[in-house]
Amino acid sequence: MTGEADPPEGLVPGGARLRAEEFPDASDGIYLNAASFGLLPARTRAVIDRWSHDRASGVGVDPERFDQALTRARAAAGQLIGEPVEAIALAPNTSYGVNLAAEIVGAGAPGRILLSDGEFPANVLPWKRLSERGFEVEVVPADSQGLPRFGAMEERLAADPSVRAVAISMVQFGTGVLADLEAWGAKCREREVFLAVDAIQGLGVSPLDGPGALGVDLLTSGAQKWLLSPWGTGFVYLHPRHLERIHPPFVSWFGFESALDFEKLLDYESPLLPDARRFEPATLPVHDLEAMAASIELLLEVGVDRIRGHVHALHDRVLEWAVDRPGVEVVTPRDAARRAGILSLAFDEIGEPAAALERAGIAAAVRGGRLRLAPHLYNTADEIDALLAVVG
Ligand SMILES: Cc1ncc(COP(=O)(O)O)c(C=O)c1O
Repeated sequence: MTGEADPPEGLVPGGARLRAEEFPDASDGIYLNAASFGLLPARTRAVIDRWSHDRASGVGVDPERFDQALTRARAAAGQLIGEPVEAIALAPNTSYGVNLAAEIVGAGAPGRILLSDGEFPANVLPWKRLSERGFEVEVVPADSQGLPRFGAMEERLAADPSVRAVAISMVQFGTGVLADLEAWGAKCREREVFLAVDAIQGLGVSPLDGPGALGVDLLTSGAQKWLLSPWGTGFVYLHPRHLERIHPPFVSWFGFESALDFEKLLDYESPLLPDARRFEPATLPVHDLEAMAASIELLLEVGVDRIRGHVHALHDRVLEWAVDRPGVEVVTPRDAARRAGILSLAFDEIGEPAAALERAGIAAAVRGGRLRLAPHLYNTADEIDALLAVVG
């Protein structure tokens, strides 16, 4: 896409205008590691800078501005996933939401939690804690490539009425497999099994519209990766049917109506807020969450669908290069419908390609002895070609 004129409608993934306006420092190196953290857009840095400036003087920082910033963050998150703002709770990371899901499930009758081997620990360890309450966590073995065996998980779900929850990543961090949330949602709803989704490796590069209607009970995502936001930001979506039914397992003073009017702070009998804000921790990093809003707004302006198209076009160069290449195997499904932004490649010997990338100043990750590429909207075809020249 480099060198192409931008169409008049605006910012184009991989386009020169997008790079110049929003990622002016991207050319300091070649950054292909959005699955670890994404690059901060210029508009996001500007939000943080403005808050830092105002914090240094105290001028213009008041509860109203706090409220506007947090509302903007919830609205952006809601728009991103096609859910109402009332269903969004801001959170510091993915783990917060996984723990919330485990608490919700743990408050019910003990049973089994199903998940796949190869899941990131943030999506496993909070569930494991439930063994203290009589639950059993069943880690379904992956296949010989490390790919999740969704079919085997479904069989377990169908065969065992004691399954209480399925915990799944929208996109697995190592293999890059994109889960079929629609199919999982239908299967879990049919059996009244809680479906919890760790979406951090999918949102921002893979479109998602209305997880609640798909049957997702809770979806959680940190925003530091594909959402191009500061560390310590994220959000949780909770299906409205749980709002009234579930007592928040932990409360913060921010989750009560009394927090809306500081004259009422000492009303200890104040009711919980009527929406998902009752699950938010206090006090939130308001400057970073408004920065998250700015980043998500950029992704929405460009269009997640177009971002996926761009990222897949970059993948295609690698996939073509890998065909019949001795010593290299593509681990992530080639089928675009089962892939988001991560592309994992197994090398017979990873040491030399990894060292060569480091020498060349190309940032990509090695996970489980494999090269994990994670290009995003700011990357160009030239950068992929540079990478291939180095590893080839
Ligand atoms: C699938 C997945 N879940 C969660 C995380 C991180 O969890 P948290 O946002 O709680 O730090 C990562 C990566 O860091 C991840 O790849």
